[in-house]
Amino acid sequence: MDKLVIEGGYKLKGEVTISGAKNALLPILAATVLTDEPCIIRHCPVLRDTNTMIKLLRSLGKAVEFNQGVIKVTSQSDCNCFADYKLVSTMRASFCVLGPLIAKYKKARVSLPGGCVIGVRPVDLHLKGLRALGADIEIEEGYCVAKTKNLKGAHIYLGGEYGSSVLATDNVMMAACLAKGTTIIEAAACEPEVVDLAECLIKMGARIRGHGTPIIEIEGVKRLKGFEHTIIPDRIEAGTFTIAALITKGDILIKNANPRHMMSVLDKLKESGAKIQVGSQSLRVKANSHIRPINVTTLPYPGFPTDMQAQIMALMAVTSGISVITEKIYPDRFMHVAELNRMGAHIQREGPHAIVEGVKQLSGAPVMASDLRASAALVLAGLVAKGRTTVSRIYHLERGYENMEDKLSGLGAKIWREKE
Ligand code: EPZ
Repeated sequence: MDKLVIEGGYKLKGEVTISGAKNALLPILAATVLTDEPCIIRHCPVLRDTNTMIKLLRSLGKAVEFNQGVIKVTSQSDCNCFADYKLVSTMRASFCVLGPLIAKYKKARVSLPGGCVIGVRPVDLHLKGLRALGADIEIEEGYCVAKTKNLKGAHIYLGGEYGSSVLATDNVMMAACLAKGTTIIEAAACEPEVVDLAECLIKMGARIRGHGTPIIEIEGVKRLKGFEHTIIPDRIEAGTFTIAALITKGDILIKNANPRHMMSVLDKLKESGAKIQVGSQSLRVKANSHIRPINVTTLPYPGFPTDMQAQIMALMAVTSGISVITEKIYPDRFMHVAELNRMGAHIQREGPHAIVEGVKQLSGAPVMASDLRASAALVLAGLVAKGRTTVSRIYHLERGYENMEDKLSGLGAKIWREKE
């Protein structure tokens, strides 16, 4: 296993280009199960999660090529409609093949994803929606065993106690595309990645309206064709680099971003005093010395994204004053608190709240990544800490950030990879 080593104290300067969005690519790769025709997807990031989903598609009988950011998927052999525990347990998004398999092949055997460090992460809403469409789903030995004669459109309320569900919306929307009749999904997730999937499904011949709003209407069709699609920029990567500039008091230009997908994050950072020039496809984060403490609550889109919670906590950890960060999507998503405190931060957890008392200086230390976004927060803290920080278990980081250390080095950070 590798670790990242960071010498803190260098202001970031220069330009960085944002990669395609992991959380748009993964469900769009799952959507290729809905057709036997060739599918071409552009602007794909090289990530562990991309490779995991490609492995899963190959196990389902697809031929997949991935060259220079372009993924080509074609049907090679009959689909065995089986998604193995080994793959699904490493990446929850694999569960998104369930809806497409049931819709296309009328059967599926997909492993339950299991939990992870950020929470229990149930799939009850996925199963509720698919069962409402007429899928007969039993749980056997940790697998969802599904079959159906024909899926039929339904009016489904898909909200849970934590609000809408991104991947449940994706799973049910994909299945509904081939159901007989019209489906209405209420309390649908509105994330830009759900919209990107819907746009891709429409290119395949699906009839979808209302994507991006809490009510999505899908009129089933008989079959779906192949597609060519370019993935939207990763709003969480763009937000992470924005904070990297602010925490080091640097001055960077972030290219190939979509600021319209980042309004809640930009709004909060402006409230803290950040000076950010917003272009149509770029962000210019200007050095400024005075960031103020702010309170943040994570919510479903368009609210402040839970995937940016750890990163903004790192910024508040070195912002003098008291900030309160409330996590409403995954109340246990605070694994990064203990590690930031090891670097000298003063953060106290009170249930779903983290009370952050900003300190003048963090000190470099050996820390351990626990999940994708917590790893990013530890790297951000290392950029500004005094001395050397080593972040171990960086396979978590590699799941969702393409070439992060190269991009940060390109901006003047002193960061490199070493063997554990
Ligand atoms: C997606 O996960 C993202 N992953 C997550 O990003 C992101 O944190 C999450 O949405 C929330 O925005 C991908 O898109 C691949 P949810 P998802 O279903 O869809 C509860 C990252 O760092 N829930 O929207 O699995 C759930 O426990 C990852 O890139 C149910 O109760 O999340 C949570 O509290 C981490 N029952 C809330 O809903 C269900 O059936 C929102 O989860 C499903 C979810």
